[in-house]
Amino acid sequence: MSGEVVYPRLDQAAVETLAGQLAAQAPISGILSLEGELGAGKSTFARAFLRSLGVTGTIRSPTYTLVEPYVIDQPAGPEQVLHLDLYRLGDPEELDYLGVRDEIDQALLLVEWLSQAGGELSADLRLFLRGDPAEPECRDVTLSAVTPAGADWLRRVSGH
Ligand SMILES: Nc1ncnc2c1ncn2[C@@H]1O[C@H](COP(=O)(O)OP(=O)(O)OP(=O)(O)O)[C@@H](O)[C@H]1O
Ligand SMILES: [Mg+2]
Repeated sequence: MSGEVVYPRLDQAAVETLAGQLAAQAPISGILSLEGELGAGKSTFARAFLRSLGVTGTIRSPTYTLVEPYVIDQPAGPEQVLHLDLYRLGDPEELDYLGVRDEIDQALLLVEWLSQAGGELSADLRLFLRGDPAEPECRDVTLSAVTPAGADWLRRVSGH
C-alpha cells in the first residue's frame, strides 16, 4: 500500500506534536505499530498521543501488564485506545487472555513490539523512530501505511 512520510530530526517536543496530529486524525479502530529500538521513544509517543485525546490520569507503561486500556471522551475519533507493549509476550495466544482480540473492532491499538504477536495482529500504519548517536535528542520518524485505512490516516495527517 502506498504512502510513506519521513520527518527528519524531531526533538521530543516535535515527536509529541506529531503524536497529537496523529491522534487528532485517528480512526475509531485500527493498529498503529510503534517501532524502534529500546529507548527510541515509542512510549513517549504513546503518552503524548493519549494526552492529546484528553487522558488526564496516570499513563502507565504496559511493560508488565502488556496492555493498558483507556476510555476516550471526545466527540469524534476512537472511544477506546489500547496501549500494548508486547516485548514480554511469551506466546501470541496470550493475546486472547489479555482480551485484545475481543476489543479489536472497537478500539484503536498503539502497539510496541508488534512483531512479538507472531502475525496475530497486523498494522494499518507503522511509525518508526530512529535515533542518531550524534544527536541524542533527535529522532528520524518514518510513517508507513500498510493498509488503505492506514494510508487514509497518513494522508489526513501529512496532507498529501
Ligand atoms: N526526540 C525524542 N523523541 C522521543 N523521546 C526522546 C527524544 N529525545 C529524547 N527522548 C527520551 O528518550 C526516552 C525514550 O523512552 P521510551 O520509554 O519512550 O522508549 P521506548 O521506545 O518506549 O523503549 P522500550 O522499547 O524500552 O519500551 C525518554 O526518556 C525520552 O525523554
Ligand atoms: Mg516503551
